[in-house]
Amino acid sequence: MSDERDLIRSRINIVDLVQERTNLKRKGKAWWGLCPFHDDKSPSFQVSDLTGQYRCWSCGAKGDIFTWVMEVEKVDFRDALEQLAEKAGVELKKGAPNEGSKRKSYQAANEFTLQFYSAQLKSSKQTLDYCDRRGLSETVREEWQLGYAPGEHGLTNHLKKQGISLADAKEIFLVDGDQGGGYYDKFRDRLMFPIHDERGHLVAWGGRILGQGNPKYINSGDTPLYSKRKVLYGMNRAKEHIAAADRAILVEGYMDVIACHRAGVRNTVASLGTAMSEEQAKLLHRWCQKVTVLYDSDAAGQKAAARAAEVLSAEGLQVKVALLPVGQDPDSLLKEVGPEAVVRVTEGGLSPVEYAISQLEMKYDLTAQEFWDQAIDSLKLARDSLEVSKQLEALALRYPFINNPQEALRALKQLARARLGPTKSAAAPKRSSGIEKVVRDVTGPEKLILSALFFEELRPIAWEAIGEPELFPSWIAKQVQLALYTAFGDDSPQGETRNWLAEIPEDEAKSYLSELAMHLETKKDQLHIPDEASLRHAIERLGLKRERAGLIRKRLGGEFAGDNAMQFTKRWTQSIASEIDQN
Ligand code: CTP
Ligand code: MN
Repeated sequence: MSDERDLIRSRINIVDLVQERTNLKRKGKAWWGLCPFHDDKSPSFQVSDLTGQYRCWSCGAKGDIFTWVMEVEKVDFRDALEQLAEKAGVELKKGAPNEGSKRKSYQAANEFTLQFYSAQLKSSKQTLDYCDRRGLSETVREEWQLGYAPGEHGLTNHLKKQGISLADAKEIFLVDGDQGGGYYDKFRDRLMFPIHDERGHLVAWGGRILGQGNPKYINSGDTPLYSKRKVLYGMNRAKEHIAAADRAILVEGYMDVIACHRAGVRNTVASLGTAMSEEQAKLLHRWCQKVTVLYDSDAAGQKAAARAAEVLSAEGLQVKVALLPVGQDPDSLLKEVGPEAVVRVTEGGLSPVEYAISQLEMKYDLTAQEFWDQAIDSLKLARDSLEVSKQLEALALRYPFINNPQEALRALKQLARARLGPTKSAAAPKRSSGIEKVVRDVTGPEKLILSALFFEELRPIAWEAIGEPELFPSWIAKQVQLALYTAFGDDSPQGETRNWLAEIPEDEAKSYLSELAMHLETKKDQLHIPDEASLRHAIERLGLKRERAGLIRKRLGGEFAGDNAMQFTKRWTQSIASEIDQN
């Protein structure tokens, strides 16, 4: 496992990786740029080829190539590892031995299919006419890689000619059949929409009938490449826009996504007719905090919208439900009214509570008790108690049974207590943890010894100090010493710095050491770079302090008697540090 990662770390230079997104400038040995993780005014983001780490000295963001990919691509570690392995040309050992090659042949089948369907579209006059009627211009067709599936055996024959296994093609929902009858195309006489996952891999297909008929759409089922619950249509194109806007627009289908993008609303994705899943909500939450649900205005669409809002809120996203004129979806709105109307609709929207109440208003008269019961029930959807009280106040003004708003409010609060139980508080939104602050009171000689670890010719000497018990007086240097000794024992680490650094088990220690290395890289001043004489002198000095500390400890023996290990280490460290200060 760690072999794979070492190889990836050796092959991928963090400076190049970061440069793909953020401009870095070289200063001395270090690379600097504007921090991509906060609104940086002057370059506080340092990237080090030596340690393989990045660090923002202003907001505290830090990490290596893996965390970089996790942060900017919003993926988990496994995904980051896979992406970087692909980039580095490293084969990851996992699962069945042929899993990787199987995946490759599925991907090849899909790529050949893509070429085939788009070539077919160009020569199918009826499909081109259909596209024109629906506003799918050539630019749009190319951007969304639309195609045409002629059907019967068109794709089957093409894949066979390309040497693709039809059994594989069947596994990914391109063809069906055999058991003696041979294979045939799954999609026949349909306009084809390729479906990509978040990373832009082609994983599935949707096919629309040309004109009227049933079923209107056929979509790939779950396959080894595709899990419906995990993919949102358009995510690969929309993700950066979603991050930039901190909001995603969620629509129902293919045509709606394309329409919104055409209208310039590029943070739009679709759940593709299936109910919004928890996984899809999580996927969105990795990219933004806010989602606007924009489903068809028919009854089915509105019901699905309410359900999607629930799933998204449960994930901790801030949800708005946008309202469309009756009989419209974003695609028809674009066609019939124009792009500004689409933009306007995506900018509006109601909170889930407001939305639920607006639905009730259409269903009931205000004098119906059902309206009030269900309006109160809808307060369950509120984000927090503030929204609950705001809504109760607004409702009180419309309560038809009591004229005095104060008394109406009291009555509604009573109703709320009866129906919802005592002070309901909405699910708290999830928060990411902040950056921990660490106090580092490392002394000069300690710093010099630890710095020497980054110079190959000095490392063996510094390593002698690492092997000396109780040589380091400061808390953090002690941690570093312990972590290093645990990781490498008596033999000093070998090979590339970024790789041995990665082996250190203790995050605190690893972090301190890489920061130290990054500081060294920024100092052009040679004074800060240790040489053999200063290194030996530093070790000697710490040795003397240790002896003296031993004496002090003896002298103060009684003072530490009642301490537990933690208190002892702390107090002992303090007393040594002040001893050293006095020198
Ligand atoms: N859908 C589906 N199967 C169907 C009908 C719909 O998978 N039989 C999915 C499709 O992803 C579709 C979405 O649900 O895009 C929304 O359905 P609908 O509003 O009926 O389709 P539109 O996207 O509006 O398509 P069109 O404008 O071509 O009618
Ligand atoms: Mn629709």
